[in-house]
Amino acid sequence: MAIRTGTIQAQYQIIDQFEELSEGDQLLMDKARGILNVSYSPYSKFQVGSSLILDNGIILTGTNQENASYPLCICAERVALYHAGAQYPDAKIISLAVTARSSTQSLPKPVSPCGACRQVITEFESKQKSLIRLILMGDSGQVFIFESGRDLLPLGFDGSII
Ligand code: THU
Repeated sequence: MAIRTGTIQAQYQIIDQFEELSEGDQLLMDKARGILNVSYSPYSKFQVGSSLILDNGIILTGTNQENASYPLCICAERVALYHAGAQYPDAKIISLAVTARSSTQSLPKPVSPCGACRQVITEFESKQKSLIRLILMGDSGQVFIFESGRDLLPLGFDGSII
């Protein structure tokens, strides 16, 4: 029997530097950069900042929050997303920006959300029935823009099956 295969592809935009982003995207990324210093990351020394803009224009931010009991650490993205879910449950998230800074290395490549955050982003997309743009960068260099969290989590678990 012939083996049938499928292909999974995702397209994303590559912006060569921060200054080439649209004004709105620069503003959002600046919010994420602006809170890096309040990241609570004494263990990893890896500061992550995330910001999101809602369809009502409000911008919310989050940083990673670590704990001496390591598995309890939570990523910046989920802090921002759950903040939105708790405070503005009926608003839609338009875009989510992520950036990072480390005291031990430079980060010239975009930071990409972990698998758990991807799962949470896609659940928000299902809940709000619209896509969330992702704007990803390191501490310098290129910026990647994805039109949907689904692009980063193909065949992800979808709650509609439950
Ligand atoms: N982290 C984030 O906040 N977001 C990511 O996308 C990847 C990782 C955090 C978790 C932990 O506090 C530190 O970065 C190192 O993994």
